[in-house]
Amino acid sequence: MNYRYIPLVLLVVLLVSAFRIAPGTSDPWKAPKEADALVDPLANDAKAAAKGARLFSSLCWTCHGPQGKGDGPNATSLSVLPADLGSPFVQAQSNGALYWKITHGRGDMASYEQVISREQRWALVHYIRTLAHE
Ligand code: HEC
Repeated sequence: MNYRYIPLVLLVVLLVSAFRIAPGTSDPWKAPKEADALVDPLANDAKAAAKGARLFSSLCWTCHGPQGKGDGPNATSLSVLPADLGSPFVQAQSNGALYWKITHGRGDMASYEQVISREQRWALVHYIRTLAHE
């Protein structure tokens, strides 16, 4: 056994565990391509955004903030800050991609698949569209 390598081995172990603690924090969150093709069942529902607003103000604002800017009261305890939902970065995504993210979640953002119905998740996408700004 050659003890010269011990510091090197420790360094490798340390680096590997550092990346394990924060999985997927540095890479931007991308929905899979096929999410873009999901069909929005509320496409012609004029009340969808209002339904989404009610859901947002009970389930989502604590982290995302009342206007979706990522400044909710619980945001400071999150390891990854949620993006401003009205920003061009979020608004450039398809309805299907946003629906997919709400459905599957990542990290501190839970999966809402078992929490609310499919229509409720689409209604939230419609509400997120009303937050758009430059
Ligand atoms: C516990 C805090 C928390 C709650 C509650 C929460 N989110 Fe999130 N959300 C996050 C975090 C953190 C991210 C960023 C995740 C990442 O990038 O890894 C996120 C990301 C998102 C994104 C993706 C934005 C992007 O970067 O493209 C959408 C859309 C979203 N949330 C919608 C919602 C909706 C709708 C609700 C309510 C049903 C909700 N979230 C509830 C913490 C939360």
